[in-house]
Amino acid sequence: MGKVLNIGVLVSGSGTNLQAIIDACARQEINARVVCVISNVADAYGLERARKADIPALHLDHRAYSGREAYDEALVATLREFGVELVVLAGFMRIITCVLLDAFPMAVMNIHPALLPAFPGLHAARQALEYGTKVAGCTVHFVDCGTDTGPIIIQAAVPVLEGDTEETLSARIQKEEHRVYPEAVKLFAEGRLKVEGRKVVVS
Ligand code: GRF
Repeated sequence: MGKVLNIGVLVSGSGTNLQAIIDACARQEINARVVCVISNVADAYGLERARKADIPALHLDHRAYSGREAYDEALVATLREFGVELVVLAGFMRIITCVLLDAFPMAVMNIHPALLPAFPGLHAARQALEYGTKVAGCTVHFVDCGTDTGPIIIQAAVPVLEGDTEETLSARIQKEEHRVYPEAVKLFAEGRLKVEGRKVVVS
């Protein structure tokens, strides 16, 4: 087994995807460890999950910085301090800038609760329901300067069922998120992801 990959996870909320990744590392399914969890929200439950797993949990308040770039500089400094090699966005509700992306080229991942390029942005499950799609899902992708536009690593589809609400559909999608996000991190840790233009080639 090669070197253990150092992951930094950014969260704003409950952190169920963070938990799935922590658990997969603990089970040694991924040759990686979460070395820090950072949140812009002081009481994000994701920070609590980190503390429970003995992982440094940091609150970086975006309101204390003059703008997005200044905030991202602070993020980069903290991530570097912990020797982070892969940045995992897991429900991080901030738009990130090139400051973070340039510091970690093709090493920032995100998960989005839709089959991109359909339904980028907020409330993706609700958008799918309102549109009337029969299939919904989630996408793990590398982050680029756009919103939910980067090269796609893994997607998983789920059916939209008669009588679904935003809650029931989101729950079905999240179950798949917890499977594919650790899988994407594992492929990265194994050095099996190569970005060729818009495409991610998995070897
Ligand atoms: C997920 O649905 C993810 O797709 C979106 O934010 C949500 C985070 O959920 N980007 P959690 O905090 O991991 O539970």
